[in-house]
Amino acid sequence: MTKLAGTALEQHLKALLEVPSFPPPQSFVDNALWSDPAVYAEAEADPDGWWERHARALHWDTAWDTVLDWSDKPFAKWFVGGKINASYNCVDRHVEAGNGDRVAFHWRGEEGEERTITYAWLHEQVQRAANAMTSLGVGAGDVVGIYLPMIPEVVVAMLACARIGAPHNVVFGGFSVEAVRERMEESDAKLLVTVDGARRRGKTVPVKREVDHTLGTLPAMDHVLVVRHTDVPCPMVSGRDVDWDTALAAADPVAPATPFDAEHPLFILYSSGSTAKPKGILHTTGGYLVGTAFTTKYVFDLRPESDVFWCSADVGWITGHSYIVYGPLLNGATSVMYEGAPDYPHRGIWWETIERYGVNIFYTAPTAIRACMSWGAEEPNKFDLSSLRLLGSVGEPINPKAWLWYREVIGGGNCPIVDTWWQTETGQIMISPIPGLTAAKPGCAMRALPGVRAEVVDNDGNPISEGQGLLVLRRPWPGMLRTIFKDPDRMIRTYWERFGVDTYLVGDAARIDADGDMWILGRIDDVINVSGHRLSTAEVESAIVGHPKVAESAVVAQDDDITGQAIVAFVTPVEGTDTERLDQEIRDHVAEQIGKFARPKRIIWTADLPKTRSGKIMRRLLRDIAAGRELGDVTTLRDPAVMGALRELIAARADSED
Ligand code: WT7
Repeated sequence: MTKLAGTALEQHLKALLEVPSFPPPQSFVDNALWSDPAVYAEAEADPDGWWERHARALHWDTAWDTVLDWSDKPFAKWFVGGKINASYNCVDRHVEAGNGDRVAFHWRGEEGEERTITYAWLHEQVQRAANAMTSLGVGAGDVVGIYLPMIPEVVVAMLACARIGAPHNVVFGGFSVEAVRERMEESDAKLLVTVDGARRRGKTVPVKREVDHTLGTLPAMDHVLVVRHTDVPCPMVSGRDVDWDTALAAADPVAPATPFDAEHPLFILYSSGSTAKPKGILHTTGGYLVGTAFTTKYVFDLRPESDVFWCSADVGWITGHSYIVYGPLLNGATSVMYEGAPDYPHRGIWWETIERYGVNIFYTAPTAIRACMSWGAEEPNKFDLSSLRLLGSVGEPINPKAWLWYREVIGGGNCPIVDTWWQTETGQIMISPIPGLTAAKPGCAMRALPGVRAEVVDNDGNPISEGQGLLVLRRPWPGMLRTIFKDPDRMIRTYWERFGVDTYLVGDAARIDADGDMWILGRIDDVINVSGHRLSTAEVESAIVGHPKVAESAVVAQDDDITGQAIVAFVTPVEGTDTERLDQEIRDHVAEQIGKFARPKRIIWTADLPKTRSGKIMRRLLRDIAAGRELGDVTTLRDPAVMGALRELIAARADSED
């Protein structure tokens, strides 16, 4: 396709909006690793056999005797009796097969520096790091915190943990040090791997120094291992802190890959739920590896000998765990890892990177696509993107216009798009088209993968064949969460109570169309999705009311053209407080408590919040106000006088937007 921009592109996209569905491209049908629609029926007839078949793609030290033990619902056990080492499967296996020289990562730094990370290099580094951790007293079952930017050492640290059976607890680099402290304390982490400083958009910020300020003395935390990435000064606490390079240089380069039980914990990843307290989602080894290896290979049609794969997420989220680290490495793939933001040093940096490494498969989030769309097609048009053959989207619903722009401008009109639906809890992609097999509709996640059973149900749990309802998953899958760390009751309450222990309640609303295809609509609980980052309203509220000048606060989501949703905070200041500059103070406070990405986009001052007679804040009304809609039913309001104030707020909002 000739590269369109401006009005010509607009017209082209408008015409495409009329196309209801795109068939699987012939090139994929011919070459696909599978192209037989019968796989859906086959997997449905024998799901255990299906997963068992795909588990054989990995190296097991001891074979399992039972594929799935679902007797203690909802706590599933997969590949019972099997023994496996995750790091051996990600690294050693490829080196032993003679692929040590294969590139695992083309790493690119913000300032254009490059590092070529081969499987052989990972092999040595992971073993050294494993030994360094062992000599710091970390053993199987001990939790290791990881708070690192997008540098190859984050992968080394994760795989070193996996090698010695120490579950990692990675905290996204965008979270504040306060959030790190909370997650370390909560998980009794024994060791924290962090960095001297991080770079973002040309600036260098100290990390270790800040960590020191808040870490304090955590009873379980014995050591901090510090990677040097920048030249910012980095204080070291004697006896506790250890330099990464020194420790790895001193360590024995050989560390055996001990086989662990298939259900041995691989990692904990904290994720937001409906309450202020994040949930430690626990994933175990065997099933998670099967789920991520399988989906990486088949959903992305990955051909490890020839493809360059790029998932633009951060390793600190589940997308990075599953599709930067475990899935691609298990398949022996070559990936790109990029340190920086999509707009630094310029707005074409992603496309320049795709051209430079000849990326074939690109996986990103709708919010990034919409941002690039707003910068114009001229940016990507400057680069040769013809190496691309498949595109992926994840994290939030993608609107048809962004989907079509992605397909036409980035994919040159001939790359299929896989809109992949899944969650931190599911560990692996669950609903997605399969290239070569499934047609694609702009904005639609299409069908549950073979072996996965997703349904849309009404409020009583009855399946809906066409229409809107709640998304549920009807049977266990290998990559599923095993529990919420230290809180099995919350695991039951959150996901398995509403419709019973055979039905996993996802927390998303969905629509199923006449063809049986699934459209994911968004959350039904108090979870907000800002740029694909998951936050709970309660978590942000709790940060805001922690500010000494705030009496009360209620947080709601508002639709946003770029970030999907944005945070709007209604705040009641303590009586007599001057609200001048308080906006900024509150935003800074939220950044300190959670992270910059959680800062409210708008703060609306209000003397009172609308409440029901039982004292529950009526968020529905606040959402109406934030969106500038007519107010819905107000008959259950405790104090009708609040209405007058709310109407004034709406009027004030209209004024300010004129
Ligand atoms: C929530 C999970 C695992 C991906 C990264 C986010 C939303 C995710 C899609 C999609 C519509 C999606 C859902 C889900 N979501 N992918 N393709 N279409 N919505 O993981 O932080 O655990 O969030 O993200 O609402 O429940 P997460």
